[in-house]
Amino acid sequence: MFKTVVCVSGGGTNLQAILDAIDSGRITNTEIMAVISNNAKAYALERARNHNIPALCMSPKRYPDREAFNAAFTEKMKELNPDLIVLAGFLVAIPPAMVDAFEGRIINIHPALIPSFCGVGYYGLHVHEKALEYGVKVTGATVHFVDKGMDTGRIISQKAVYVQEGDTPEVLQRRVMEEAEWVLLPRAIDDIANGRIQLPEKKA
Ligand code: GRF
Repeated sequence: MFKTVVCVSGGGTNLQAILDAIDSGRITNTEIMAVISNNAKAYALERARNHNIPALCMSPKRYPDREAFNAAFTEKMKELNPDLIVLAGFLVAIPPAMVDAFEGRIINIHPALIPSFCGVGYYGLHVHEKALEYGVKVTGATVHFVDKGMDTGRIISQKAVYVQEGDTPEVLQRRVMEEAEWVLLPRAIDDIANGRIQLPEKKA
């Protein structure tokens, strides 16, 4: 069973897509052992609790500085020792020490076709605002491995979504979620958990 920790910050619709996929058998050989959020009020934590999954809050605000948070967050993750870490709408930079400890075993879903509309400042609704501002006809979502950069790791999968006349950022975000994010992330997890996507050896 692939032990997986999911990190969230907001509504948790990507987490819900993962949980629904496990329940329906579209994801197999996977156990969500914990959900961690930096935001105590994240509805994603409620979704975890509703699924009897340990829901933890680790907020940088509760530590004297970012270094202390990074150390505690990394320590907790080492304690959980998952086979895979999934960032599902997680808005906190992953500590470099965690990237090292779980090299090649952290994946992220980004709501655009990387390398478009990604990097610092490109998260949530801002991504879709920028896409509409630029006037792209096609956007989408990307699942990629997490390295020490921002949205710069090796791409695993992408799915295109057409922009439609009159789209608002909210309408476009919803379409990208429904047609791309909620499809790509469960599929990537199932591919990894069943060996269709190979991960590097787990570090001791
Ligand atoms: C959304 O903007 C989504 O596109 C991105 O993170 C944000 C929150 O997603 N991946 P979720 O509903 O918390 O999964």
